Amino acid sequence: MPRPTSSPPHVHFFFPFFFYIPRLVFLCSLSQVAESQIQDQKLQVLLQLRKSWHNPSSLDHWVPSNSSFHCTWPEVTCQDGLITELNLVNLNINYSIPPFICDLKNLTKLDLSYNNIPGEFPTVLYNCSKLVYLDLSQNYFKGPIPSDIDQMADLQVLILSATSFSFDVPASIARLQRLRILHLNQSEYNGTYPEEIFGLSNLEELSLAYNGKFVPTRLPRNFTALKKLRFFSMPQTNLFGRIPEMVSDMEALECLNLGANPLTGKIPGSIFALRNLNQLYVYETNVSGSIPQAVTATKLNVIHLSYNNLTGNIPEDFGKLKNLSCFNLQNNQLSGGIPEGIGHLPALSDVRLSNNNLSGTIPPDFGKFSPLRRFEVAFNNLTGALPEQLCHGGTLFGLDVSYNSLSGELPESLGNCSTLSVAMLNNNGFTGNVPGGFWMLRNLTALYLSVNGLSGELPEELSPTFTRIEMSNNKFSGKIPTTVSSWRNLVVFDASNNLLSGMVPTELTELPSLTTLLLSQNELSGILPMDIVSWKSLTTLNLSHNKISGPIPSKIGLLPVLTQLDLSDNQLSGLIPPEIGQLNVNRLNLSSNCLSGPIPAKLENTAYDTSFLNNPGLCASNSFMRLNVCNSKSHRSSKTDRTLIMILTIAAVMVIVLLVLLMIRTSRKNRDWFDSTPKVTSFQRLNFTEWNILSGLEELNVIGSGGSGKVYRIIVNPSGDAVAVKRISNNRKSDEKLEKQFVAEVEILGKIKHLHIIKLLCCISCENSKLLVYEYMENSSLDHWLHKKKRLSPVSGVANNMILDWPRRMQIALGAAKGLCYMHNDCSTPIIHRDVKSSNILLDSEFNAKIADFGLARMLAKPGEAVSMTGVAGSFGYLAPEYARTTRVNEKIDVIASGWFS
Ligand SMILES: *[C@@H]1O[C@H](CO)[C@@H](O)[C@H](O)[C@H]1NC(C)=O
Ligand SMILES: *[C@@H]1O[C@H](CO)[C@@H](O)[C@H](O)[C@H]1NC(C)=O
Ligand SMILES: *[C@@H]1O[C@H](CO)[C@@H](O)[C@H](O)[C@H]1NC(C)=O
Ligand SMILES: *[C@@H]1O[C@H](CO)[C@@H](O)[C@H](O)[C@H]1NC(C)=O
Ligand SMILES: *[C@@H]1O[C@H](CO)[C@@H](O)[C@H](O)[C@H]1NC(C)=O
Ligand SMILES: *[C@@H]1O[C@H](CO)[C@@H](O)[C@H](O)[C@H]1NC(C)=O
Ligand SMILES: *[C@@H]1O[C@H](CO)[C@@H](O)[C@H](O)[C@H]1NC(C)=O
Ligand SMILES: *[C@@H]1O[C@H](CO)[C@@H](O)[C@H](O)[C@H]1NC(C)=O
Repeated sequence: MPRPTSSPPHVHFFFPFFFYIPRLVFLCSLSQVAESQIQDQKLQVLLQLRKSWHNPSSLDHWVPSNSSFHCTWPEVTCQDGLITELNLVNLNINYSIPPFICDLKNLTKLDLSYNNIPGEFPTVLYNCSKLVYLDLSQNYFKGPIPSDIDQMADLQVLILSATSFSFDVPASIARLQRLRILHLNQSEYNGTYPEEIFGLSNLEELSLAYNGKFVPTRLPRNFTALKKLRFFSMPQTNLFGRIPEMVSDMEALECLNLGANPLTGKIPGSIFALRNLNQLYVYETNVSGSIPQAVTATKLNVIHLSYNNLTGNIPEDFGKLKNLSCFNLQNNQLSGGIPEGIGHLPALSDVRLSNNNLSGTIPPDFGKFSPLRRFEVAFNNLTGALPEQLCHGGTLFGLDVSYNSLSGELPESLGNCSTLSVAMLNNNGFTGNVPGGFWMLRNLTALYLSVNGLSGELPEELSPTFTRIEMSNNKFSGKIPTTVSSWRNLVVFDASNNLLSGMVPTELTELPSLTTLLLSQNELSGILPMDIVSWKSLTTLNLSHNKISGPIPSKIGLLPVLTQLDLSDNQLSGLIPPEIGQLNVNRLNLSSNCLSGPIPAKLENTAYDTSFLNNPGLCASNSFMRLNVCNSKSHRSSKTDRTLIMILTIAAVMVIVLLVLLMIRTSRKNRDWFDSTPKVTSFQRLNFTEWNILSGLEELNVIGSGGSGKVYRIIVNPSGDAVAVKRISNNRKSDEKLEKQFVAEVEILGKIKHLHIIKLLCCISCENSKLLVYEYMENSSLDHWLHKKKRLSPVSGVANNMILDWPRRMQIALGAAKGLCYMHNDCSTPIIHRDVKSSNILLDSEFNAKIADFGLARMLAKPGEAVSMTGVAGSFGYLAPEYARTTRVNEKIDVIASGWFS
């Protein structure tokens, strides 16, 4: 249609002006109406979509506008003014997909990943006849994948990862002949998958990874016929059998991941001849035998064969892999030396060879030619010196050479390695002084030097990043410097069994973060500091086997969290201060000193009957203390008794008054629950309301209480379904911390869905409290089975042991590991938990482990890279050594923590 504006100007002269104007308008609107009607329709579909999803705030910019302006919205892609793609990723959509989405007739790509869409597979999409690309991953879809999914015959890309689809993967999926990319990882399939999938000859990417409930299946022989396959990922899918030799036919293969499956047999040599292979993961399978010596897959960039039963030598040919950056063979039975050539590789960044039987020296060139980040060769039989240049590239972050037979002095250059965060050099034969620079490294948090032949003195000053120093069983000598107060962030200091001398300076008591101080078996003398300044965190103090004299400082009895105290084998004298009786110590040893007088009454307990031996002057009022019985009580004591009774009576009255006041307050607080309107954020369809939860918050239902609040078990409907509710109250100011924990937990749990991670159903916020509603775990926590019940009753302890037999323990450990592994490696942003311990491992009715309590978990920006963070640390005792109370975190800390369950 000719545009009116282009009509020649002489028209003016042939038509009267009044005649011309309406005609112009008419022509003009005709063309625009035709065009904008279509645009309008499309816009209307988008606006309807937004409405049907209850206007999520993430789509606030979807507002009516002129012509094709919607094509500029970041979620929308148009071609020739027609909408062809919708990228609706992570927009908090939590309602189902309406059928009219297919009114966008030209839609070829639909990406709805990372939302909270509930319900069954959206068969309404069958009407989107041009759809080529569909991504529904990271949503709450459940039920089976429909058996008529082959109606979407044009699909080339189908991504359904991290949903709750279950049952079988239907055979129809293998009829989508055009599929190039198929990802079905991390769902809840509990049946089988069609072997015909391996006949989809156009496949370039195939992932069925992390579906641990698949019926065990033999790794099919013929997947190797997939000539276009670049990416093949089936870790943790219950595959058994052998890796076929024919794998060498897969010319396009770039990434092969078969980790964590019960595979057997050998790793076929032909894998190492694949020209395009750049990533190979065969970890935690049972493959054995030796690694083939000829390696021509020169694009290999990641080799991950850890936790197998591999024997023989590391092939020399690995030294030819110019692209190799990650080299992980840890936990095998490899022997022989580390090939010299590997030390020359230009891209090598991550070397992990720990837990093998490797011997010989470490090639001296490691680090010289590539920027190493991690170098771990612990638990081998390596000898000779540590390579000089490990930190030459200026990137070394973790160094672990512990438990070898290395010798010589520590390289001076390591003392300049400012990137180093953890150095584990313990259990070797190193001698000489620690290079002075070490103590001031500005990123070093943990230094392990124990069991070597090192000498020299303690540093005057320490980098504030240090949280842990372990240097026991060496020959360190000299005094503890009075400048020790500058070691201000130290959490653990172990210098047992050295030659330290002089007094314990008062300044050492100025370290507020110190939890563990071990100085036994040295030559310390003099008296202990009477004034303990700020050992507020100290839980373990061991000064045994020294020559310390004088009295025990009464202030030790006032340390708020001390649980282990060992001052044995010294020359301490005088009375045991009564304050010591106030400690809640579970280990106390004051034996082999010169203490005298009666022991504090509170310590007259069989638990402490070996705590005071070999102090001839000590006595007790009871004979079971294995001490002399003190002389009969004086008359004075009956008088004190009377005063005591009076004091106690007054105290009791005050306690009752207090309790009554408290109860009034609590009941008022409870009423607050119903005064304010609770705000519910749900992550899936709920079969209960917030009122079911609120009305169940009674003492009667309390099943536990943790660091951040009480946990209730609440029956939410007449059929007896229960949920677990964690209540976090935030009525005090100091609870900002809890508030943060709460937000972290909600954000993380709301996003991830995994078999071994506890499901967060919803969260309810009220004025004074917040409630996290989880699925209820019938079998409580691992901690409960391991410790609590046993302690309560020895009889049921026996029963517990029988319930928690070894296969079951294995199942629990595996489950927890899978959960962690998922968080570390497979979440789009890796998540570290930071507080993995047995009470955070919950067990369902079948003893499947699920990881809970993400209060402290945080997102990591990049895998393997440490992230600095403020805020609180996890519970001490399970913190990874390199972490302790530092500010640096990476995934390793969870792994260490989980290794400590006992
Ligand atoms: C449509 O409106 C937007 C602002 O809302 C403006 O930037 C754009 O230029 C307009 N487009 C047309 C074709 O008028
Ligand atoms: C969806 O999310 C919104 C906001 O988070 C919430 O108000 C609404 O109740 C949720 N709807 C469903 C069905 O979960
Ligand atoms: C868009 O879809 C309509 C209806 O199916 C079709 O007639 C038209 O050819 C398509 N346009 C393009 C560019 O694909
Ligand atoms: C598979 O899971 C679904 C949903 O959880 C369940 O209904 C079904 O019984 C399970 N099937 C098997 C064989 O366990
Ligand atoms: C592999 O075997 C399955 C079943 O035996 C078959 O359906 C499929 O077509 C085969 N794939 C190839 C590429 O031969
Ligand atoms: C490794 O091999 C030994 C014997 O060769 C066997 O006892 C052990 O179970 C194997 N370990 C694994 C994880 O396969
Ligand atoms: C370590 O190597 C030495 C000799 O180099 C050998 O005597 C010793 O048995 C080896 N130890 C282990 C545990 O293999
Ligand atoms: C020390 O660690 C921080 C945080 O991980 C990092 O940003 C910084 O670059 C490191 N410093 C050095 C010298 O490597």
